[in-house]
Amino acid sequence: MVENVSAGADSVFEGNRFVRACLRRPVDRTPVWFLRQAGRYMQEYRDVRRHHTLVEICKQPELAAEVTITAAEKLGVDAAIIFADLLLPLEPMGLPFEFQAGEGPVVHHPVRTAEDVRALRTDKAADLAYVARAIEKVAGHFGDRLGIIGFCGAPYTLASYMIEGGGSRNYVHTKQLMYGDTAAWRTLLDKLITVLTEYCRLQVQAGADVIQIFDSWIGSLGVADYRDYAFEASKKLVRAVQEMGVPVIYFGVETTALLGDMAATGADVIGLDWRQPLDEGWRAVGHGHAVQGNLDPITLFAPPEVLELRAAAGRPGHIFNLGHGIVPGTPVENVQAVVRMVREFKLEEANG
Ligand code: CP3
Repeated sequence: MVENVSAGADSVFEGNRFVRACLRRPVDRTPVWFLRQAGRYMQEYRDVRRHHTLVEICKQPELAAEVTITAAEKLGVDAAIIFADLLLPLEPMGLPFEFQAGEGPVVHHPVRTAEDVRALRTDKAADLAYVARAIEKVAGHFGDRLGIIGFCGAPYTLASYMIEGGGSRNYVHTKQLMYGDTAAWRTLLDKLITVLTEYCRLQVQAGADVIQIFDSWIGSLGVADYRDYAFEASKKLVRAVQEMGVPVIYFGVETTALLGDMAATGADVIGLDWRQPLDEGWRAVGHGHAVQGNLDPITLFAPPEVLELRAAAGRPGHIFNLGHGIVPGTPVENVQAVVRMVREFKLEEANG
């Protein structure tokens, strides 16, 4: 919790490095972690996956905690993101889904009409307590050594999964509802805010130090549509989580045109994808916010000398990460090498 780390003086060594960076407090070196740091690129994860489905891992706190802890320890990162999935809140809202091999998530009865929106439940967020139990285990394991990150989807991105029934290229159904029945669209976002706020509260009470809100597909909206159809809902969720006493990271992909508006939600940290240089992205966000990012995840396949150049971009007030998730096939040793580079970079600077 923020209260714990913010107590006392602004000493470089007090509290957790990652949480301090989220709050733009001085740090001894740039903290580092990776989007999708627990995943198929890692042998230990594949071993667990041989015996359990993705959703089984999420729903068994012992397993979810183990996968979370193993990845964070193997990489030597400064934060552990709880192993869960963006889609989990759909189930207690009355929308069952499954992950089909090679296809990603499939929602069996997508939301398409005002009647479908009306049927969604908002009173069952407590069913997601298994994620909180996993966070308790991870927090118990790491104590104050690592930042514990809880997460949820942003209203727009989750709504798009509910309406499309899965991933999408053009978001035709989503935008059809958004433009064609704006009242139903707004009701859907409000219902999501209700459930996601309670879900985040469970995670914070269980020991999450920071909440990351994934608006992964927000780049499918132009700036004007972002302002008209998504901004207010994101802002409401960001503020509701901040009132719980933790900083919020707000992340999206293909957001170059949206960064200023995303920052206007008031999120403490804005996650940057890799399309823009870090300093330009930070300028667009504004220096009143921390930033997280933004190495191209495919750079992790590059030879070490290329990696070295890219990794040296770190500077104070910045959380080093990728611009999106680690992909299957990524060499684990390259991920570990980047962690070493980020650590050594700050040490050299501090000593020099
Ligand atoms: O280590 C971590 O980052 C924590 C775990 C995590 C998962 N999903 C596990 C997972 C996190 C943070 C997520 C969030 C998530 N889930 C997002 C937002 C992040 C982003 O990438 O923008 C999204 C869009 C989803 C939805 C989702 N889950 C998709 C589209 C897929 C299929 C992708 C694929 O490559 O198959 C998933 C499956 C999923 N969630 C995997 C993992 C590790 C894939 C591996 C598996 O099936 O075991």
